[in-house]
Amino acid sequence: MDKCNKNKCSAVYIETYGCQMNKYDSELVAGLLTSEGFRLVPEPESADVVLINTCSVREHAEKRALGRISLFGGWKNGTPHRKLGVIGCMVQRMESELVNRNPFIDFALGPDEYRRLPELIRNGSTRPSLFTSLNMTEDYEGIPPSRETSINGWISISRGCNNFCSYCIVPYTRGREHSRSASSIAEEAKMMSDRGYREITLLGQNVNTYSDGGYTFPDLLIDLCSIPHLYRIRFMTSHPKDLSNRLLEVMADEPKVCPHLHLPVQSGSDRILLLMNRGYTRSAYLERIETAREIVKNISITSDILVGFPTETEQDFQDTVDLAETVRFNEAFTYRYSPRPGTKATDIEDNLTETERLERLDRIIQVQRSITMQKKRELIGQSFEVLPETVSKKSADEWMGRTPENDVIIFPKGEARFGEPIRIRIEACRGSTLWGRAE
Ligand code: SAH
Ligand code: SF4
Ligand code: F3S
Repeated sequence: MDKCNKNKCSAVYIETYGCQMNKYDSELVAGLLTSEGFRLVPEPESADVVLINTCSVREHAEKRALGRISLFGGWKNGTPHRKLGVIGCMVQRMESELVNRNPFIDFALGPDEYRRLPELIRNGSTRPSLFTSLNMTEDYEGIPPSRETSINGWISISRGCNNFCSYCIVPYTRGREHSRSASSIAEEAKMMSDRGYREITLLGQNVNTYSDGGYTFPDLLIDLCSIPHLYRIRFMTSHPKDLSNRLLEVMADEPKVCPHLHLPVQSGSDRILLLMNRGYTRSAYLERIETAREIVKNISITSDILVGFPTETEQDFQDTVDLAETVRFNEAFTYRYSPRPGTKATDIEDNLTETERLERLDRIIQVQRSITMQKKRELIGQSFEVLPETVSKKSADEWMGRTPENDVIIFPKGEARFGEPIRIRIEACRGSTLWGRAE
């Protein structure tokens, strides 16, 4: 295993932006590097190599990463052995523009090029080196991700996306969707359970279209449920157009599959949904919600809402507010539209100002916040099986844990043990925090 001379072995610091898929990729990169003898360090000061794993989903995410990249340009000053690598979606989107604008970047790799990292760090290359091939067969088979010790961890089950929502950069930065083999996913899940993980979250831009031959996502869920000592299985994201009743039935029938669905709606206006190329109508979305609630008792539903899409009128926006009030999501992540170069939405004449977008974002945040708070208060007096996952930030005498529905609860440590489910009755909701006590 000692492929790297101990004395020359580089210390690597990885900083990650973006979604869970990107965080999982950083764990893969960490696994790849440690298996090749590199050391990971928790801060840049003691590192020889800094890797920044970037996100392109909104302009703000890119600006933040660009700020960090130039900061680390300064970190390299006067220390020729230090190297700065940029990886992830922004490299794939910006390609040579990124390395030309930041000539102190030593290497830049898109999401399907990470196997090159050990070699690039060890031997260097002509600067700046840029690799951005997208590869339908790359699923990093054989690389065990290096995860923080915890009871819950992510497993990516597919990479890429085929949906081409008109506002979204992901299909361009991650390429076409490809599923990992069911056997390698099961192997990874078993390995995690052997190491003490009790909860896994399966990741894909659209888990509903997972396929390994004729083997589908519900089949995968059923098989993973048979892994001993794995108590809970979560997943995200479900695209509404592909949400099947069979998946909902598996959720209802398998106690290990958590009754939580993340089902991004984006907009409540049919005209905007069509322009977004989402592939469903408002009424089709509402029908899916109704069916989900019929099949899975007490299901919790969260969503993503995107306001200020080009040409969105006040009425279109009101349709979104109305949908949020009708559905009453447990929680929703709200965003204002950010034009992404090269996506279809940038061809639509954009008549909205930033002020209008911000104002709509503010309004939808207020609406959703009040629904989220009401939903939380409705839980007071009910009891749930909670999995203690970390010590509470506020007190060493308390655990933070989650219900199957994904609500976070703080409760006294008492008899409860890390990673062992315990029944907790919710007693109060202070601010946005739920507090409880063992029954
Ligand atoms: N595949 C997932 C996640 C995609 S990115 C899905 O389909 O839901 C996460 C969220 O970022 C999206 O749901 C969308 O609400 C938001 N998003 C994507 N592109 C955006 C853009 N150009 N501007 C603002 N928000 C965007
Ligand atoms: Fe983007 Fe749509 Fe794919 Fe989600 S489903 S990653 S929003 S293109
Ligand atoms: Fe994720 Fe951002 Fe890429 S949301 S897939 S890291 S563009």
